[in-house]
Amino acid sequence: MAILKIARMGHPVLIRRADPVPDPTAPEIRRLVADMLETMEDAGGVGLAAPQVHVPLRLFVFRVPAGRADGGEAVGNTAIINPVLEAMEDVVALGWEGCLSIPGLRGVVPRAVRIRYRGLDAAGEPMTGEAAGFQARVMQHEQDHLNGVLYPMRMTDFTRFGFDEELARASREEESQP
Ligand code: NI
Repeated sequence: MAILKIARMGHPVLIRRADPVPDPTAPEIRRLVADMLETMEDAGGVGLAAPQVHVPLRLFVFRVPAGRADGGEAVGNTAIINPVLEAMEDVVALGWEGCLSIPGLRGVVPRAVRIRYRGLDAAGEPMTGEAAGFQARVMQHEQDHLNGVLYPMRMTDFTRFGFDEELARASREEESQP
């Protein structure tokens, strides 16, 4: 396994549409998934799409840590190949997002609250399911990477976009107001 280099915003691989994985059971795809999981964990992220490691193919990995499942269930390291996502209803929620390709920043992004997904798992077997809340947000964020879309391109309120450190300081100061 290996830790892969993560492309940062500005690199053209992040704004092109990725191609379908032609052979999901190929050994190089298995290796890519293992390396992406290791890279995601090393970077402390909750999702990573193949274009972020300079591979323009339609697959991503993600996880939902117990502390961030917001009422839903924690999800261990998961890979999905050639994923298709659809919103189950028109309800959209705003939530903070960051991205390993846009280090140091975060912003508030509207996302569908409930989605249905299908694709292939790391063994090439069909997988399908529904997701809500944080998991739905992470999956939509990663799916966007496969279409060359970065989260700032989804934002509608740029007053809620900034550097992590500043936002954390501002919320600390707000909390300490009498
Ligand atoms: Ni991202």
